[in-house]
Amino acid sequence: MAQILDGKAFAARLRGRVAEAVAELGAAGGPAPGLAVVLVGEDAASQVYVRSKGRATREAGMVSLEHRLAADVPQAELLALVAQLNADPAVHGILVQLPLPAHMDAAAVIAAIDPAKDVDGFHISNVGLLATGGRAMVPCTPLGCLMLLRDRLGDMAGLEAVVLGRSNIVGKPMAQLLLRESCTVTVAHSRTRDLPGVCRRADILVAAVGRPEMVPGDWIKPGATVIDVGINRVPDGAGGSRLVGDVAFASAAEVAGAITPVPGGVGPMTIACLLANTVTAAARAAGLPEPEGLGL
Ligand code: GUN
Repeated sequence: MAQILDGKAFAARLRGRVAEAVAELGAAGGPAPGLAVVLVGEDAASQVYVRSKGRATREAGMVSLEHRLAADVPQAELLALVAQLNADPAVHGILVQLPLPAHMDAAAVIAAIDPAKDVDGFHISNVGLLATGGRAMVPCTPLGCLMLLRDRLGDMAGLEAVVLGRSNIVGKPMAQLLLRESCTVTVAHSRTRDLPGVCRRADILVAAVGRPEMVPGDWIKPGATVIDVGINRVPDGAGGSRLVGDVAFASAAEVAGAITPVPGGVGPMTIACLLANTVTAAARAAGLPEPEGLGL
């Protein structure tokens, strides 16, 4: 039976470390880190995320600024808000919640964010810095996955890592992070031939495809470390619903050496890493040393 990687407990410790770093920054004459979250429209899941981000930000001793815009707001108005936040010295992190309404060009909006305040790590400057080994803002979900992997495995050099999924938010940055750890990295996706065979090679398997329980236990190498990024709501057979990952947990846990549960695995790490990135951005903005233990 696999070890269960408790992301909820790990994230709680990381949030504690963030709160310490916030206090240290203040003691060194630095600012209270400020995170601005921009929500456009009424998407139900996004509203839940934004609320919990605001709460976690305040609990860590940071300043949370929320901006809500109507679903039909012109893109120019969102860009003007981003410009205002870029110029505001009290704002150290800017997050524009995705997805944006269909009439907006998300790439153009992300490009307008000051890369130094891009706590999502989505700006092409940060994407490029990550790919070239520079001082990037690292996307929160892959950063959280990396922290769990380091905690479980320590040195990952030479391990076979398979990332299932090639999104800009998770799959691609995750592959870059594993490459930086000197893993041998394969990025697999919906068009990959012999997906089961590719997955069975993996010492580290990161599943980020958004397909409920797509990876069964017999795709997993015995002893592998499995990180399940999926959060899928499915019918529970009793008229309600439940959350499942991209990995079939019960069968996978019989084979894997370690596995993250859903919920309570990767999910809680994402917000904790957002806070960590915001403190890092605030320290850099103030010209102070970056707090230890919050990033790469
Ligand atoms: N929507 C779902 N996940 C994310 C995320 O990590 N960042 C942003 N900005 N929007 C999201």
